[in-house]
Amino acid sequence: MAKVLGVNALFHDPAAAVVVDGVTVAAAEEERFSRRKHGHRPVPFAAWELPELAARWCLAASGLDVADLDAVTYSFDPALAAPAEELGLDDPWDHLRQTYAREAGGFLGTALPGLDPAAVRHVPHHVAHGASGALASPFVGGDVDVLVLDGRGECGSHLAGTYRGSDLTVHAAQRLPHSLGLLYEDLTDHLGFLRSSDEYKVMAMASYGTPRFLPELRDRVHHDGAGGFRTLPVHWQALAKRLEPGEEWSEDHADLAASVQARLEEVLVDLARWLRGRTGGTRLAMAGGVALNCVANTRILELSGYDEVWVQPAAGDAGTALGGALHVAGELGDELRPMPGADLGRGWSDDELERYLRTAQVPYERPADMAEEVAECLAADGVVAWFQGRSEFGPRALGHRSLLAHPGRRENLERLNDVKGREQFRPVAPMVLADRAPALFSRGPLPSPYMLFVHDVAAEWRDRIPAVVHVDGTARVQTVDTAEEPLVARMLEAFERRTGLPVVVNTSLNTAGRPMVDDPRDALECFGSAPVSMLAIGPFAVRRRGRP
Ligand SMILES: [Fe+2]
Repeated sequence: MAKVLGVNALFHDPAAAVVVDGVTVAAAEEERFSRRKHGHRPVPFAAWELPELAARWCLAASGLDVADLDAVTYSFDPALAAPAEELGLDDPWDHLRQTYAREAGGFLGTALPGLDPAAVRHVPHHVAHGASGALASPFVGGDVDVLVLDGRGECGSHLAGTYRGSDLTVHAAQRLPHSLGLLYEDLTDHLGFLRSSDEYKVMAMASYGTPRFLPELRDRVHHDGAGGFRTLPVHWQALAKRLEPGEEWSEDHADLAASVQARLEEVLVDLARWLRGRTGGTRLAMAGGVALNCVANTRILELSGYDEVWVQPAAGDAGTALGGALHVAGELGDELRPMPGADLGRGWSDDELERYLRTAQVPYERPADMAEEVAECLAADGVVAWFQGRSEFGPRALGHRSLLAHPGRRENLERLNDVKGREQFRPVAPMVLADRAPALFSRGPLPSPYMLFVHDVAAEWRDRIPAVVHVDGTARVQTVDTAEEPLVARMLEAFERRTGLPVVVNTSLNTAGRPMVDDPRDALECFGSAPVSMLAIGPFAVRRRGRP
C-alpha cells in the first residue's frame, strides 16, 4: 500500500503524478501552471525545470504531505548514462544534464521541503515510458508487450519488452546514436519548426506530399533484424533546402516529410512484428514521443499482427512521471489499476468558478442545460470554448479544455487555425459518440478515446463534415463514451438533433504557441482575446455580444 510521487524533469515536458495504492490519482504537466510550453524551450542546456508547481498540486489533490510518501521517482537513471561523445551525440551540455540528474534528490528536497532525498529512486527513462504504456493500460495485470520509442534516454532510444504483471522483461533496446525520434526531430528542425515540440506539424505536412525520397530513406534507416534499428545520418539539404521558421514550404518539403513519415511507419511495423514474433503476444502498449504519431500507430495496428494496441495519451516525456510512479508502486507490491482517463489534472467546484467570473466582472448566466445551450450555439456556427471537469494529462484536448465548432462548414478549419494562430495545413479533429463512430470512421481502432490513431472517413460523410477531414481523407478521431463523459455525450446528441451530424470539431483550448488553458483565469484570458462566441465554464455561460 504505497504512496508514490513520480517526477519527470530532465529533457522536456516536466510533469508530476501521484499513485496511491496502485491507483492513479493525479497527473499534471508543469507547463499548465508555469504557462511555458513544454517547460523551458528545448535548447540544449535549459530543459531541467523541476515540476514543483505540478508536484505540489498533485500532492494536495491526493490529500498527501511530502512526509507521507513512500517513494519519489525520477525518470532518468544517471548510473546508466554515458558521456555524450561516447554515444555519438553532439551535445556539449549533456554532462550538466547528468550532474543534475545525479543531484535530483537534493534539488527535489529544495523544491518540496520535507522530502527525504533518500526516498528518491531513479527509474531508467525507457522503463518509465514502458510502464506508462503497459501499467496504465486496460491490459495491466496480464501479459502485455511494450514498445517504447523516443529521441533518447540514458544511452538508448528504444525498448521492446513484455510486462507480466508488474515485472518487465526486456527483449531489445537500441543504443544511441541510432534514434527514430532524433531523426524525426532533425527533419522538424530542417523544415523550420521547433525541434522536440513541433513534430506533429511534420506529420500533418506529410499528408500533402508523396514519398518520392523513400529509396534514399530506406538506404539510411532500417530494422536490424534483431529488434533494433539503424539510423544513419541523412543529408537533408540534398533532398530539400532548409527552411527558416515561417518560410513558405514547397512540394519538395512535403515530399520529404512524406518520405520520412513513410519510412518511420515501415520501420515501426518491422519492430512491432519482430516483438510479436518473439513473444507471440496479442496486446501491445506503446509510449515515448514517437507514439504520438497517430498515423504510424494505425499502421502498427493494421500490420503488426497484434489484436489490440493501446497508446499512453501522455506518450511524451510527461508520461514518464506517471510511468515511473506505477513501476515503483508495482515493485512495492501494489496491485495496479488502469489509469481512469486522461482527466487527471486540475478541476474547480461550481462555487470556485463563479468566484472567478464575479472577480472578472463579466456578465454570465447559468443555463438550464449546458449541453443544449452549447449545441444551439454550435449549430448556429458559433465557436465555443469548453471548460469542464479536470484538465487533460498529455497534449490532446479530450473534451475538458476544448475549442468546439460546427464540422459541416469547411471554413471552420481556417477559422479555428486563425483563432489558435496555427499553420493552415494543420487539421482539426472530430469528436463523435462511440456508438455512432463505426458508421463514419474505419481503419483505426474504435472506440478511440485518446485521439492517438487516424481513421478513414466514410466516403458518404466526407462532404458532410469537411472541417474535420484531412487532405488525405483521414481524421484523428476521439470517441466519446456516454458513461465516461456524460456531459460531452449529451452535447453531441443535442448537436445531432439539430444538424443531423453526430460529430463536433474539437481542438485544444489555447492560442498561438501557449500551453493549453488549465485554470479559470487562463480560460477567461483566452476568451477575452480570441474570437470565440461563448465560454462554457462548468455550469456557466459567458457570451460574446453579437455572436450566436
Ligand atoms: Fe522520452
